[in-house]
Amino acid sequence: MLTIGIDKIGFATSQYMLEMKELAIARNEDPAKFKEGLLLDALSISPITEDIVTLASSAASDILTEDDKQTIDMIILATESSIDQSKAASVYVHSLLNIQPFVRSIEMKEACYSATAALDYARLHIENHPDSKVLVLASDIAKYGINTSGEPTQGAGSIALLISKDPHILALHNKSVAHTRDIMDFWRPNYRNTPYVDGMYSTKQYLDTLKITWQEYQKRFDAELSDYAAFCFHLPFPKLALKGLNKLFTKETSKEVKERLTDNFYHSITYSKVVGNIYTGSLYLGLLSLLENSPTLKADDKIILFSYGSGAVTEIFSGHLVEGYKNHLQANRMAQLQARTALSVKEYEEMFFEEPKMDEEGNANFKSYKTGPFALSGIQNHQRQYIKVDENDKN
Ligand code: CAA
Repeated sequence: MLTIGIDKIGFATSQYMLEMKELAIARNEDPAKFKEGLLLDALSISPITEDIVTLASSAASDILTEDDKQTIDMIILATESSIDQSKAASVYVHSLLNIQPFVRSIEMKEACYSATAALDYARLHIENHPDSKVLVLASDIAKYGINTSGEPTQGAGSIALLISKDPHILALHNKSVAHTRDIMDFWRPNYRNTPYVDGMYSTKQYLDTLKITWQEYQKRFDAELSDYAAFCFHLPFPKLALKGLNKLFTKETSKEVKERLTDNFYHSITYSKVVGNIYTGSLYLGLLSLLENSPTLKADDKIILFSYGSGAVTEIFSGHLVEGYKNHLQANRMAQLQARTALSVKEYEEMFFEEPKMDEEGNANFKSYKTGPFALSGIQNHQRQYIKVDENDKN
């Protein structure tokens, strides 16, 4: 039986951020509402030159070696902030990263959930082709609009997962339960740049589907909370996931299990607290944060994960940590996040909501902003133009 799972995890976000306390003051809210009520300290804010392609390419370039690029034969990009109704964003990523040509490149969608379906597709693909590797990308810019109820839960970022046999980080178990429920909690029709959201209803649905999916998972696999070292959640904002964790505790849950899961929960939200919601990648940013920050986790510890996509589809699945997993992670990610440029609320409003000003032929040039190693330089004849950013040109 092959062991298949996450071999490497990369992450990229924008180079700019907005402090929640600045947003609170500008919107006449008590800063404690965002800090304690949502458990958020800052949001990543992307300029027009950073999109799901540049973020995904940056996240992947963080982890891929030349050998990986020769071995990857499938790239799946999961997103709900797609840049094209036809062409998959993974085709651009494939080109920007110089991955070998005999690759299946696709895009997947189901709100914040689809990276989880992509992960399972990758696992099944490796089962059939044990020597190949699959690049799963979860890339999104979460934009609700100025002065909307969702404004404090925006963000931007991408997670890259390299899936292979004999993985170095997390071995996936062949145990999962998915759940579908047709609801209108959050949706974005094709003619809209920002979503419609029924915020309070969405939080209730998140919590209810968590309970239902977990009950089914327990029933099918005879699972108990005590089996796991940590529970990772989709993190639209960390406070909702904390409520979710607390709802799973029962009279039978021991103090020790509660403490273990709660301690590790706080390690899993360290990055999201300063990045915000990154939709499809948010569960996996939580996993990365847990693995890079928890001092108690060790090889063979089991981790269980809850994926939620509005609309709604959920899934609970699990894996266990591989010996030496810490050697394949980073130690200084918080310092990188702290190095982002802080924006005033006025700068954020101008930057995050800037739209291309296209001429009649479909051309637009963009001002230069700080980005990662890839940037969207402009649009020519309605075609997006991506460039590799020379380190020396970074401003
Ligand atoms: N000090 C401390 N806490 C305070 C406070 C203060 N001065 N004032 C308020 N709070 C607390 C509130 O009590 C509340 O906490 P509890 O829920 O524990 O009671 C919290 O701050 C939030 O305040 P409100 O309940 O007044 O809510 P809000 O008007 O700020 O809206 C929201 C919250 C509805 C979630 C809104 O942010 C939203 O619409 N977000 C987008 C939708 C979303 O993220 N939904 C999540 C599920 S859907 C999903 O998961 C998919 C996805 O990624 C989008």
